[in-house]
Amino acid sequence: MVNVLFVCLGNICRSPMAEAVLRHKILKLGLSEQISVDSAGTGDWHVGKGPHEGTRRILDQQGISYENMKARLVGSDDFGNFDYMICMDQSNAENVRRIPGGQNANLLFFMDLLPEEELREVPDPYFTGNFEQVYQLINAGCDVLLDRIIKEKL
Ligand code: 4NP
Repeated sequence: MVNVLFVCLGNICRSPMAEAVLRHKILKLGLSEQISVDSAGTGDWHVGKGPHEGTRRILDQQGISYENMKARLVGSDDFGNFDYMICMDQSNAENVRRIPGGQNANLLFFMDLLPEEELREVPDPYFTGNFEQVYQLINAGCDVLLDRIIKEKL
């Protein structure tokens, strides 16, 4: 099994959107037995809650399931359990590196999947309100990621 973890701050907007979108693509390709997706945050304010209304609205429009998804914290146990740990912005990575065991974690940045984009971080729609922009980036980046996983690991 190849394991992917998306990381953001609150784990209610960006990383759960990426989790749901990538899982949907994996399901469509019939690769659910080979690639597993999860998400987590570094702030504990929303732990146990489902995705933000803005993320749910976009996923509903796209017919993408977010069933049973609940916000959780990145923890020390996560290090070593994921082939790809992908942060939405630089501050996410700084926060992950402060978690015990996380100093030398092999972290990737979501926007490195989209090198042609001028944006180098996935903007936080909790503050911008622009969930559509985030969906466009996440949808494009997840296509690139899935190709990469298939080439590198399957
Ligand atoms: P996310 O967005 O990191 O994309 O889930 C946020 C959600 C909640 C908060 C910040 C960012 N917050 O401060 O509660």
